[in-house]
Amino acid sequence: MLPHEYGIEKSRRYEVESLARAARDERPGRQVNLPQTASLRLGDRAPDFTQESTQGPIHLYEWMGVSWAVLFSHPADFTPVCTTELGMVAGLKPEFDKRNVKVIGLSVDPLFRHEAWAGDIAETQGVELNFPLLADADRRVAQLYDMIHPNAHPTETVRSVFIIDPKKTVRLIHTYPAATGRNFDELLRVIDSMQLTDEKKIATPANWKPGEDVVILPSVRNSEAEKLFPKGFTELKPYLRITPQPND
Ligand code: BEZ
Repeated sequence: MLPHEYGIEKSRRYEVESLARAARDERPGRQVNLPQTASLRLGDRAPDFTQESTQGPIHLYEWMGVSWAVLFSHPADFTPVCTTELGMVAGLKPEFDKRNVKVIGLSVDPLFRHEAWAGDIAETQGVELNFPLLADADRRVAQLYDMIHPNAHPTETVRSVFIIDPKKTVRLIHTYPAATGRNFDELLRVIDSMQLTDEKKIATPANWKPGEDVVILPSVRNSEAEKLFPKGFTELKPYLRITPQPND
C-alpha cells in the first residue's frame, strides 16, 4: 500500500464501520436512512451515466454505440475473488467482441487504486485489464443500478450483472453474493441465447448450449413452423416442439 493510501483506507473503514453500526441500530427513531434507489427490472431503459474509468471518462450510451454491454460490479479493489473475475473477463474479451458485446466493470474505489490493482491483475492472472473499470467512488452508478444492498453490506456493491442491448434496454440482471465468483461462460451462453431468440421465433431450453436443439415459440402455428424450420420439428406436446438450432 502506498503511504498516502493509509488515510483513505482509514476513512473508508470508518465510513463502513459507522454505517454498519447505524444499520444494526434497531432503537425506535434510530434507523439509518440509506439512500433510496429505484430498482431496475428487465425491459427498463438502462440509466445513462458519465463516470471516471481506467480508460478515461465513460459516457455509457456513447461508449456502447451499437454494441451490447455487460456492466458488472465488484465489492472492492484488492480482493481475491474480484481479482480472478477481472482476469477471467479480460481473457474472454475476444469472445465478447465476437458477439458485439462491450464489457465494463465497476468498483466503488478511486481511480488510483484501480490503476494499482490492474498491475496485480496482470501479474497474478497473466492478462492485462483490457476493458474499462469504473471508478465509482461517489457511488453514482452503484445507486443508479441499485448495486448496494445495505443488508448485505452498508457501502460495498454486491456482484451485480446487467446485460444491456443496443437499444439500451436492460435484458438480464443477476446478483451474486460477495464471496461467490461468477460464471462468465454462463453470461456468454445467455448472450448467445438472447441474440438467437431475438432473431428467430424460438426459445432455448434448460441448460441449452449453442448448437443444441431449441424449442419453437408456442405462438407459432405448425403450418408456419414447417416453413420457418425446414429441418423439421418433433412435437412432444402442442406447446413443446423441438427443432435443430437454425444456423443463419
Ligand atoms: C472477494 O472479492 O474476494 C471478496 C469480497 C468480499 C467478500 C469476500 C470475498
